[in-house]
Amino acid sequence: MEAVILHGGQGTRLRPLTHTGPKQLIKVAGKPVSQWVLEQIRDAGIRDVIIILGDNTPTRVVDYYGDGSRFGVRITYVYQGKARGLADAVYKVKDVVSDRFLVYLGDNVVPYDLSKFSSFKGSASILLAKVDNPNRFGVAVIKDGRVIKLVEKPKEPISDLALVGVYGFTREIFDVIESLKPSWRGELEITDALQGLIDRGREVDYEIVQGWWKDTGTPRDILEANAFLLDRYAERKVEGVIENSTIDGRVIIEKGAVIKNSVVRGPTYIGRDTKIVNSYVGPFTSVGEQSEITDSEIEYSVILDRVKIRGVTLMDSLIGNNATVEKGGRWQKLIIGENSSVIL
Ligand code: TTP
Repeated sequence: MEAVILHGGQGTRLRPLTHTGPKQLIKVAGKPVSQWVLEQIRDAGIRDVIIILGDNTPTRVVDYYGDGSRFGVRITYVYQGKARGLADAVYKVKDVVSDRFLVYLGDNVVPYDLSKFSSFKGSASILLAKVDNPNRFGVAVIKDGRVIKLVEKPKEPISDLALVGVYGFTREIFDVIESLKPSWRGELEITDALQGLIDRGREVDYEIVQGWWKDTGTPRDILEANAFLLDRYAERKVEGVIENSTIDGRVIIEKGAVIKNSVVRGPTYIGRDTKIVNSYVGPFTSVGEQSEITDSEIEYSVILDRVKIRGVTLMDSLIGNNATVEKGGRWQKLIIGENSSVIL
């Protein structure tokens, strides 16, 4: 069985960060969201991975993952280009998958044992989760233990079971996708493809996910995923240099990092070669590689690679690669794109 990671899409809700790169490469708790996905796939024993590339700097994805050997998998890349919908992306793997394959949206984090997908009944399998706002999702209607209907963003409250971003398919899905028409938003919808299977009398298997999962479509989702993954996986590991500082709780400090005259409180991640000087970095924060945080306070935030922050207090903020943020004030929900320079 192969696993397909969808790495395309437009990522409009994550602008300005997605003006310069795909959202799936945004690092949470020290790794791109799609790397959490890839490692989960590998840990379920699946070694053949197909990455679907979109038109937003796909070379960055290939540069990062290469042939997959660094991650213990074999990667084949398939180019989708323009985002024409999840079903369009799935159709692109027609020539490279075998009888059964897994599809995982590369911006989702779903802690679930993927090895269960190797043995689903019927023509496809979906994961569902109870949600409070089903009108924002594709939902499934279940009757007598069977999926009888799928609806994209329902206006009527017909079900509160949303499709979570992991699917199992057999090759039957390709025939259905060939007969699909674009939806009102001009995309080939995966819910329509699954509905097509049901309309042909095929069975769509399902499981209900308990507990936390996340579709990281917005800045707030990125911060929540970062907090969840830190809380779940961070164990204290201090490999950097600590001078006159307090490192409190489950903090990961990678090699080459320097923490000077500062307090770092876990769960928190500090990447390689990053310098934290005269600062407080509070819980549920990740700071990427080669960044510099000086005379600042940061809590519940994601600071990406090669960022410089000086003399600022930040909360609930997301700062893109190579950005500089300077001079004063207390800021909440600051979202700064890559390569930006901001004097507050
Ligand atoms: P979405 O988050 O639904 O779409 P999007 O990435 O275009 O984002 P936005 O709504 O903010 O503009 O996509 C879900 C996942 O599927 C995500 O990982 C991107 C991926 N995707 C593709 O690979 N190809 C596509 O054609 C689409 C629509 C999404």
